[in-house]
Amino acid sequence: MKTPIRVAVTGAAGQIGYALLFRIASGAMFGPDQPVILQLIEAPVEKALKALEGVAMELDDCAFPLLKGIVQTSDPAVGFKDANWCLLVGAKPRGPGMERADLLKDNGKIFIGQGQIIDAVAAADARVAVVGNPANTNCMIAASQAKRLPPERFTAMVRLDQNRAQSQLAQKAGVDLTAVKDIFIYGNHSPTMFPAFAHANINGQPAAKVINDDAWLQGPFCETVGKRGAAIIAARGASSAASAANALVDHVRSLVTPGAVHSVAVKSNGHYGFDANVWAGMPVRTTTPGSYEILTHYDLSDAFSQQKLAATNKELVEERAFVADMIK
Ligand code: NAD
Ligand code: LMR
Repeated sequence: MKTPIRVAVTGAAGQIGYALLFRIASGAMFGPDQPVILQLIEAPVEKALKALEGVAMELDDCAFPLLKGIVQTSDPAVGFKDANWCLLVGAKPRGPGMERADLLKDNGKIFIGQGQIIDAVAAADARVAVVGNPANTNCMIAASQAKRLPPERFTAMVRLDQNRAQSQLAQKAGVDLTAVKDIFIYGNHSPTMFPAFAHANINGQPAAKVINDDAWLQGPFCETVGKRGAAIIAARGASSAASAANALVDHVRSLVTPGAVHSVAVKSNGHYGFDANVWAGMPVRTTTPGSYEILTHYDLSDAFSQQKLAATNKELVEERAFVADMIK
């Protein structure tokens, strides 16, 4: 039996938390032979903590063989203690008519304190994955507070966008989802994101050739993927939760699987025209569990891609400027 890993989850009693914890405890995130201890962190609000009690009771009632312990707390110093993975979900979701960046003022400050505490008390090998919006900039904020943990350990989720893009391409081409490969998300988890179809393939053929509709790829495809979150809010009256939780399972599972190639928002190294010190979606290859290399060989020098990359980079730089005072 492997040693259990400690997985801290913020916002554990929220919508995403409810769709996520049972997947982690069942082995979907870290594998069927990896025991876990869940360290569940909620806001210090009576209603949230009461709801968390109920979630913990349900976790008990599942009798998951891999679940070796549950911590419930509103104290991040307790919740992040010795955590190997810190999943930062807890933050306000946006409502209809808002952009994710509108959440920065309220949500950004959460990630200052959490970045500091994670750096102080989490395990030496700690990895951080940010979901709370606006995810890229919140991740940058958390990483900015760390002195011990290197910035590469802090990633933000654009996997939901990759999954959405894969699904849209498969539907348009009328093929099984698994036929679509190498569709990666560049930039911000916002409508400016760029689902770079130029390198995607369908049954081993270039996706653009199979779909044979550049106007659709450059227009409705990019728009549908970029604005899918808002479409879900409009339809459901609440932001995506089960698909977000599923994407976080995919994000972490791919990050612990050497050889996996997938989209992650990571600290820019200047490739693809991204400013240094913004967290931008890019393709990475997992090297060893929890570590990755940024894949820099994709050619996105055509005019359309350049314009999309510049727009999403500009937005990330603006978000960073907006919180500059906060992260001093
Ligand atoms: P929710 O309101 O249902 O749950 C959020 C939970 O976080 C609440 O229970 C709240 O009490 C808790 N919380 C708030 N501040 C906290 C803190 N400081 N510490 C610990 N817990 C705290 O929201 P949700 O639908 O679960 O969404 C959570 C976040 O994820 C939102 O910001 C949403 O926009 C974002 N999101 C991101 C993606 C993505 O692809 N990156 C996808 C979907 C949702
Ligand atoms: C999503 O993409 O579904 C989430 O980021 C929620 C939102 O605000 O769109």
